Order: sequence, then C-alpha cells, then structure tokens
Amino acid sequence: MIEPLPRLSDRHFREIAELVEQQVGIRLPENKRLMLEGRLQKRVRALGYQDINEYVDRLFEDDHFDAELIHLIDCVTTNKTDFFREPFHFDFLRDTAVPELLRKTRGRPLKIWSAACSTGMEAYTIAIVLDDMQRSGVGFQFRILGTDISTGVLQLAEEGIYTREMIAPVPEAMAKRYFLSSKDKSRSEVRIVPELRRSVAFMRMNLMDAVYPVDRDVDVIFCRNVLIYFDKPTQSKVVERLCSHLRPGGYLIVGHSESMIQNQSIKIKQVQPTIFKV
Ligand SMILES: C[S@@+](CC[C@H](N)C(=O)[O-])C[C@H]1O[C@@H](n2cnc3c(N)ncnc32)[C@H](O)[C@@H]1O
Repeated sequence: MIEPLPRLSDRHFREIAELVEQQVGIRLPENKRLMLEGRLQKRVRALGYQDINEYVDRLFEDDHFDAELIHLIDCVTTNKTDFFREPFHFDFLRDTAVPELLRKTRGRPLKIWSAACSTGMEAYTIAIVLDDMQRSGVGFQFRILGTDISTGVLQLAEEGIYTREMIAPVPEAMAKRYFLSSKDKSRSEVRIVPELRRSVAFMRMNLMDAVYPVDRDVDVIFCRNVLIYFDKPTQSKVVERLCSHLRPGGYLIVGHSESMIQNQSIKIKQVQPTIFKV
C-alpha cells in the first residue's frame, strides 16, 4: 500500500519558500507546495527524519544549514534542458553573432557564457556549433563557461555523459563526430568527445549574487529559461549584472518566454524577441 505523503504545515512551507526565494530567487507560490513536498521526500528519507516538517526545523540548525542548503537547492531547481533547445538561437549564433563579433575580436578567443547551464546540453550545443564553424574554415578560438546553482546538474555537465535519447536533437553527422559510444554496448550512453569537453569549463554560481566572478568581456551570454522563475525586480538586477559582463556589441540571449525584459529600464537593444545587444 502506498502511504500518503506527510504534508508541510503552512508555517514550514512559508519558511522554506522565503528561504528559497531569498537564496536563489526562485518563487514558490502555493501551487508549488505539492511539488516541493514530493521533491523533498527523498531527502527526508535519506536523513532518517519522521516527516517533512522535521526536515524544515532541522534545516535551520546552524551546524547543518550550509551543507543542507546545497541539497535543498538541487531539489527546488527545475533543470529541464535539451541539446539544440530553441534552435533559432544557435542559427543566430552561427550566422549573425559570431561573424559580426569576429570582425572585432582581433584574434582573441571568443568568450561565450551559458548562465544557468543545467546538465550542460546548452554549453555543449554552443561548443558543437562553434567547432563545426571552425571545421568549415572560419579561423577562430573559443572558450565556453557554463554556470549553474545546482551542484547535481554541474556534476553531470562535467561528466558529459548522456543517453542516446537525449542526443536525439543533435544532427546525425554532428552526433557521430562529437559523441563517443559507451564501450559497454548494453548501455545506451554516449559521451562528449574530450576535445569538446576541454573547451567548456563549468562552475557553480548563483545569479542572485551581487558580484559574478566572470570576465567582463564576454561576447555572448545565454541566460535561458531561468529568469522566468524570478520576480520582476530580480530579473532586472540579474539582466543588468549579466550585461555588465558583455563587451560592447555583445549579445544576451534569453528563453522564448522571457522576452519581457525589454520593458525594463536597462540600456540594451532588442534585436529579436529574445536577443538583446549592449
Ligand atoms: C530550466 S533550466 C534551463 C537550462 C538551460 N538554460 C536551457 O534553457 O535549456 C534552469 C536552470 O537554472 C538554474 N538556476 C535556478 N536558479 C538559479 C540561480 N539563482 N543561479 C544560477 N542558476 C540557477 C537551475 O539549477 C536550472 O539548472
């Protein structure tokens, strides 16, 4: 028999929702309560607690807080991503942004940042597109940085191991060139080739932090499908901080449901619904 989940009390839900919003900017309105309860069950069991309310009480104990916060953040973040997600952005990168930026880089490597990179599919898609351009004769170097708040997804990103199903959106010729099949044929897994893995660095970073430890001459920033979780003032602050890391003429690319940042008082030009230029 499946036992019903113990429910979070109103007070405990409020406490955890406030903490999550303050720490990572993600809002947890009432309609997310069930989701939160479901996602925290595994942690409650792993820690041997009676129920989810005990989890919240113990979370705030001093000696436990910092370490558990990392797990809590892994539980509350939504990490949905894909290779070549919103493919128009990668066409824009190849056909417009890179050719234009290369005219100004004077031989220095292009710098691309995938902020909120989840399991790395976005960062590796960028690497695939840029490497493919190099192979077709466009001479340039590039460096890619992937950052995210969730340690769980960053570990997967660093490993660069995916299932065959996950790489379905990658065009066949690229899949052959940029992924290695598992030696164990019973596993339907592939791994990004080492040369491509070496072109991407991953780092834990919270977009809510006042200062980002990232260069200030980035050419293109992808910050897709994360702003949507923040309230408007937080979105503005994050976009402003991100833009301060772009070189003049650099691009900020957001998710398809995030084009609303145009309404805010940030000095960026909207060149496409989801593409902005500083
Ligand atoms: C839905 S995924 C989007 C992944 C990818 N950008 C894409 O569009 O496919 C959102 C990611 O944002 C990350 N995230 C949420 N809040 C964050 C924060 N405050 N700082 C950094 N990353 C955050 C989550 O961990 C998650 O991996």
